Parts: sequence; C-alpha cells; structure tokens
Amino acid sequence: MTAHRKDEHVQLAHAQYAPGNRTAPPGAPPPASQFDEVHFVHHALAGTDREKVSLETRFAGLHWPVPLYINAMTGGSAKTGEINRDLAIAARETGLPIATGSMSPYLKDPGTAPTFTPVRREHPDGFVLANLNATATPEQARRAVGLLRADALQIHLNTVQETVMPEGDRSFGHWASGIERIVSAVEVPVIVKEVGFGLSGRTVRELASLGVRIADVAGSGGTDFARIENGRRSRPDYAYLEGWGLSTPAALLDARGCGLPLLASGGVRHPLDVARALALGAGAVGASGPYLTTLLDGGVDALVRHITTWLDQLTALMTLLGAHSPAELADCDVLLSGSLREFRLDRGLT
Ligand code: FNR
Repeated sequence: MTAHRKDEHVQLAHAQYAPGNRTAPPGAPPPASQFDEVHFVHHALAGTDREKVSLETRFAGLHWPVPLYINAMTGGSAKTGEINRDLAIAARETGLPIATGSMSPYLKDPGTAPTFTPVRREHPDGFVLANLNATATPEQARRAVGLLRADALQIHLNTVQETVMPEGDRSFGHWASGIERIVSAVEVPVIVKEVGFGLSGRTVRELASLGVRIADVAGSGGTDFARIENGRRSRPDYAYLEGWGLSTPAALLDARGCGLPLLASGGVRHPLDVARALALGAGAVGASGPYLTTLLDGGVDALVRHITTWLDQLTALMTLLGAHSPAELADCDVLLSGSLREFRLDRGLT
C-alpha cells in the first residue's frame, strides 16, 4: 500500500509539470508566480568580477559548497529507490546536498532500506538529510538518521496533505510535543519543513521554542500536494484546497526575524527565483518537482546539466548584482509589487 502510494505521488507530481499543466516544464515560459513580484533594483555600476564570486554557502553553522539542494521526495518502492539513486548521483556530480523522502516506509518495514540507502552510497561525502514526520518516536528518529549517516534530520509538516489524502492521519494536536522529543533525541540538527504550503512567522517562532535549528518555509507555487491527493481520490472532493497556503516569497517575508535561520523551497522555477529567495533572507534554496521532472524526462545526465546551468546562471546573476557570496544577496535593493507588497503591508512586516 505505502509503496503504491509513493509511486502515485511521483506520477502525479510529474504530471503537474507536463506541458499545458499549471506548472511549466523547463524551457517553457514560466507560469505566473509571486516570485515575479520580487524585483531587484537595477544599479548599472553594482557589478563585480565573475572570478570574485563564490557559491560557497555558510549559514546556521553549516558549510555547503553551493546554496542549492535537492529537497525531500521519495523512497519506499523499487521504482522510487532508483529515483533516489539517480537524484543522489546528480547531487554528487554537482555538489548539492540532498534529502530523501519520508522514511516512514523504512520504519514500518526495514526491508525497504535499500530504497533509501543509495542516497548515502552514491553521495558518500555529501550533505545528506533524512526525513520523517512529527509522529516518529525518538528511537525511530535515531534509526532513520543512523541508516543514512545523515548530517541533518528534516521533519515535515503536512496538515493540508493529510486532510486531502484519502488515508490521511488527522490527529495534529501532538505534533509540537513530538518535534520537541525528536530534537532532544538526535545529535544532528533538526530542520522542520512544510511540503509546499509554507511556514508562517508564527509557526517559525513556535519551532524555535521547541529547539528546532532551521526552518525550510517550503511554500506554495510549485508542486501542490492538495492536487496530488485529490488525484488519488475517486473524486477531487477537496479541489478548493488546491493553491492553499503561503507562497515561498510570502512565507520568507512573514518568517524572517522570527528566531530561526531559513531555507527556501517550493515553486522555485529558475536561477532568478533562487537569487530572489536568497535576497529575501534564505540561507539556501531547494527544489523538488522541477528536478524530478528533468530526471524522469531526460535521465541523470539531463539533471546534471539542469543543475549545472542553474549554478552557472546564479553565479552570473550574483556578478551582475555585485554579490560575492550568496549571503551578500541579502544586501541587494529589492522592491515588492502587487499582491506580495499588499501581503507585507497587511501583515505589518518590514
Ligand atoms: C515531495 N515532498 C516531500 N516532502 C517531505 O518532506 N517528505 C516527503 O516524503 C515528500 N515527498 C514528496 C514527493 C514528491 C514526488 C514531491 C515532488 C515532493 C515535498 C517537497 O520536499 C517540497 O516541499 C515540495 O515539493 C515543494 O517544492 P517544489 O516541488 O515546488 O520544488
């Protein structure tokens, strides 16, 4: 059952990136996004020399070669094990950190371990993140981290997904205490993330009080898990929940200054969105659906080219903007327009 669900998630996520669908494939004109309401003020003399620009990324005590990572997706079935292997090969070839999908299948059935372990096997020296939900016990959290010799543990918050998922678990009330227990049980940093509906400032403040080290806002605008789970129902009963949540730029505005270093992911379409998220205060930027689509459509080599292009173009944008490091993008002049500007005013944010 779980293995079948994991295959369905991959197939339905991939379908969201098909031509003519709401989210465009690489190369097609990008869909409308709140990222388009984040504008760099152009300063014609701001540029620096390309060789002075470094993608090396330091934030929250971590040191990554680049400010990009492959965010959590999959594992638990034979096919998703192959996907994890290929994602990890691409991560190794490009230096990206990588997260596995939720390791709940492994906790239920240790026989699924070989669908997760390729992430560490193929990327032996890379930064690897394990992934669980907030209901995992401390002992389960230690097992998941141990299996991958993970450098950090992601805990995903997915209330909207569980609500729409036909077999969803809707007891959310004990999640905060579960997170606190996991934080004290593992030795690696705990990163809490959404799955594409965004973390608000209020949530991030609460996570900080639970001992969480980093928050990944994982906002809307890309892969939509309400839509995926509607697609797994006999009828799309919760169609009105599609598009729910805070977009990634809105979540960054809401959550910055709320006590935790932030990562950004969700709906990141191209290197300019990466630069925008870094300018809004993210320490690094992740993507899932776009990388999965490239892998399924074109194989590992295509994914390596995709990521390499993003890294090259991000370096070019930093050169243009005069940012010598990813962190320096936060010093750039940025203007907000439209609904994002209204959101900031309505929420009383600076
Ligand atoms: C996901 N995502 C996810 N997140 C998580 O924490 N645990 C998981 O098991 C999964 N599973 C999963 C499967 C598939 C096929 C996709 C595409 C995504 C969510 C993912 O990490 C990310 O938060 C969202 O997909 C939003 O980012 P993108 O896809 O818009 O870049």
